[in-house]
Amino acid sequence: MLIALTAFLAACGGEAPPAAPPAAPPAPVPAPLLEPGKADVYTAPALETAPEGPYGDSIRRGYELFTKTAELLPDNVPGNQNCSSCHLDGGRQLGAAALLGVHDRFPKYMERTGAVIALHDRVNYCFTRSLAGSRLPAESQEMTDLLAYLAFLSVDAPKNGKVPGVDIPKVEGKGDAATGEKLYTEKGCVACHGAEGKGVDGAFPALWGPDSYSIGASMAREERAASFIQQFMPKTTPGSLTLEEAFHLSAFINSHPRPDSPTKELDWPNGGAPYDVPYATQGHEAYNPPPSVLERAKPELAVVPAPPSVRGTPK
Ligand code: HEC
Ligand code: HEC
Repeated sequence: MLIALTAFLAACGGEAPPAAPPAAPPAPVPAPLLEPGKADVYTAPALETAPEGPYGDSIRRGYELFTKTAELLPDNVPGNQNCSSCHLDGGRQLGAAALLGVHDRFPKYMERTGAVIALHDRVNYCFTRSLAGSRLPAESQEMTDLLAYLAFLSVDAPKNGKVPGVDIPKVEGKGDAATGEKLYTEKGCVACHGAEGKGVDGAFPALWGPDSYSIGASMAREERAASFIQQFMPKTTPGSLTLEEAFHLSAFINSHPRPDSPTKELDWPNGGAPYDVPYATQGHEAYNPPPSVLERAKPELAVVPAPPSVRGTPK
């Protein structure tokens, strides 16, 4: 910019051209295409910069809840997962459903719900579906702290909430569970997540069974989990799997029983469910459903009531 400006001023200065033409300015480097998970577009402030006092304290508590969810909220999270099991690096990792700018993306219309929902409801979708747990009361201190942390991650983000690269990139492929089963051992997943998919409490999240995400979670979709796995697993050598291998692993992981997600059949009330949703919804047949789903301990708390006041346009 400065170089261009100087050149421009010099060119307009009316001075005699120098004897030897100045070295040609380097050809402009085209902006790199956003590489999923790597683009450095918006960096939220470091946690250490959160201010002293009640506001900073709330942010810090929110971060603790985000990264030690199962340990700190055992009544809400029966299994072995934290928010940061999927939203890596405290929600900052691009390509892993990063939560940078998320505060500015809500309230928003969600096709899955067919309604406009607020951020605390979106957080509770992850509590009830991804963590297969119970929703947190909107007015609780824990919810306020989580929202304070999410607001902190969004503090300098664009007002419209559009931060490139946050989403898990869309990918194409088709998995085979039997091939995935072999890869699960060969690629070392078994070392951390275990032969029974149970993981290790406090260290490695469960990938199936009662302690894992529910059938209503995005991770239960073959394509979503394949993209996540290809980018970030195995944890010791991320990026070492081909997309094809990641699809097989995803198909294998999602071929096991996992917690149910009550009222899931009401998702996408206006149709339009993605192809790989593993349960039937309006106009959609279940894609590779798990052999069974596990009953929820507190089914009444496993659902986020859709806000009645702001429903989408009825058909
Ligand atoms: C099993 C994985 C998993 C866990 C655990 C999880 N989430 Fe999520 N979450 C996702 C995925 C995946 C998405 C994005 C949805 C998609 O890509 O379809 C998401 C989306 C969100 C969004 C909306 C993001 C946006 O930009 O619209 C919020 C907010 C959120 N999660 C918060 C949380 C919080 C807070 C926790 C812990 C209480 C949590 N999540 C736990 C997987 C998870
Ligand atoms: C060295 C230990 C380790 C290995 C090996 C490993 N993972 Fe993970 N995995 C983790 C940890 C830890 C997390 C939680 C996120 C984090 O902290 O990075 C995780 C998260 C995940 C998640 C999302 C968690 C959730 O709750 O849904 C999936 C899916 C996953 N791993 C699949 C795999 C697959 C498939 C392999 C083999 C290719 C693998 N992992 C190998 C440690 C490991």
